[in-house]
Amino acid sequence: MTLSRVLFLAATAGHASSLRCRAPTEAVPLDKQLMGLSIEFGNAVDFFGDVGKPNEFSNNFSKTLLIAPKFRQFSTLECVVLNDPDDPKGSEAQSVIFNARLFDVLTDNVPTGSPIIFGLNYRNNSLALAQQEIRAAYDHMDQSLIIAYELGNEANLYGPYRPTNYGVDDYAHDMREWIPSLRCQLPSANAKFQSPSFAGPELVINGMSIARLVELGVPQALPEVEYFSIHGYPYNICSANDAKKVDLRNFLNHTKTRTLIGEYGSEIAAVKRFGKKMHMGETGSVACHGKNGVSNTLGAALWELDYALTGTVAGINRFFFHMGQGDFYYSMWEPVGTAATPGPHINPTYYAMLFIADLVADLKDPKVAPMPDLDTDTTVHYAIYDGKKLQKLVLLNLEYCSGTSQSSRRSTTYGSARLLGKKLRVRRLTGANSAATTGVTWAGQSVDGNGSIIGAVKTESVDDGRVSLFASEAVIVERA
Ligand SMILES: *[C@@H]1O[C@H](CO)[C@@H](O)[C@H](O)[C@H]1NC(C)=O
Ligand SMILES: *[C@@H]1O[C@H](CO)[C@@H](O)[C@H](O)[C@H]1NC(C)=O
Ligand SMILES: *[C@@H]1O[C@H](CO)[C@@H](O)[C@H](O)[C@H]1NC(C)=O
Ligand SMILES: *[C@@H]1O[C@H](CO)[C@@H](O)[C@H](O)[C@H]1NC(C)=O
Repeated sequence: MTLSRVLFLAATAGHASSLRCRAPTEAVPLDKQLMGLSIEFGNAVDFFGDVGKPNEFSNNFSKTLLIAPKFRQFSTLECVVLNDPDDPKGSEAQSVIFNARLFDVLTDNVPTGSPIIFGLNYRNNSLALAQQEIRAAYDHMDQSLIIAYELGNEANLYGPYRPTNYGVDDYAHDMREWIPSLRCQLPSANAKFQSPSFAGPELVINGMSIARLVELGVPQALPEVEYFSIHGYPYNICSANDAKKVDLRNFLNHTKTRTLIGEYGSEIAAVKRFGKKMHMGETGSVACHGKNGVSNTLGAALWELDYALTGTVAGINRFFFHMGQGDFYYSMWEPVGTAATPGPHINPTYYAMLFIADLVADLKDPKVAPMPDLDTDTTVHYAIYDGKKLQKLVLLNLEYCSGTSQSSRRSTTYGSARLLGKKLRVRRLTGANSAATTGVTWAGQSVDGNGSIIGAVKTESVDDGRVSLFASEAVIVERA
């Protein structure tokens, strides 16, 4: 369970299977900010530093994205953190008190122009508290950066904070009352909201689903709710029994990933009926902070690419990958050293976000289409369009590999000439093997422990339309 938090959208930037001439159909819009970050309020200062003191590591590798910090000198967050070594969630803040200085951090220390979804507290069941929060956000933050206010977080898991029979009718009643009341706290009437941010899909209790809210007419009555949000993690280590099921190989399987996205089908369909946007508002590989050797690997980065692209084809507009500090193995980076990993560090999943940012950077109207006729469990193809014109291919080779010998690493060749011609440019996401936690590169570049970008951009040239991928690699292919 998380407390109120902020959601950021990243601003940045063998044997041959032949791509026959069958043109991909059904291209759907590919949001330029497909991958964003979901950050606990309690960790916002870890990631972005304090007023006048941006976190040096985060600042170093996203230097070009950050605006100059202003100088003031107060501490911003007071967190009550329960540190129980036997509790996998023991380093999560149990209560967070924020003050106006947090808004300066969010305005000044995060990459310039990053849109924010700002969380408001519903769990405390105090409309007055939520009203104070939205007024404070209005007073202190550039409203053009706030794409929505999110009321409540995982209300289907409020447990002791609500009566045991608390269910969808109570939630619906509160939303009808609270959301218009919160909107009225702001002088301009056009603030947007995000709701309901239930954890799921397997945790639907007492009818708490988007589909049921639509049956009850709730979103129809609340035009200010522009974004619908669900949360989900395919695996968890929250209990010893569930932890046993976590295996990197399960992530490197497109069929399993499609099945996972399929579980959200009825929720997506309910949202699409209104033409509103669907957000996977908090997600990651393994709930309860991720698993070492699974969530922080090249394989996890490949899974995030497949998951987000499969999801967007199915109608999920954006994914917010969860970030925390203190051995949160699914975090894209940890800005402060931890017990297990001293020193701030990048995790391989960060390169998945860069991959998508680079994929869409030069496209005006990005669209994506799957190529299911060609896909297998481990060879995955996506066609990327600008408007109606096919511009790029994303190819994934999800085959699992261990060991470090390149000579014994299997590879697959994808024939791309029919779609893009013979002369091609290729950029590659790679690392030593599926479980590599360090040494992963995107287009030849990586971020080191100082937060410095290492290496020159590497673009490979292909003359015969054939693109080879080692097991556990991904590429972007374009015309040369
Ligand atoms: C939230 O409610 C608890 C009691 O349930 C209270 O102690 C706490 O002060 C409240 N938090 C805020 C920020 O009002
Ligand atoms: C991928 O997952 C499916 C469904 O669970 C399974 O049938 C298949 O054997 C898996 N493929 C690989 C390569 O592990
Ligand atoms: C940080 O940079 C220095 C100087 O370039 C280098 O010697 C050192 O190895 C780097 N440290 C890490 C952790 O990458
Ligand atoms: C940030 O980069 C500077 C210059 O390369 C370096 O001296 C500093 O140690 C880096 N900070 C961190 C936290 O790695």
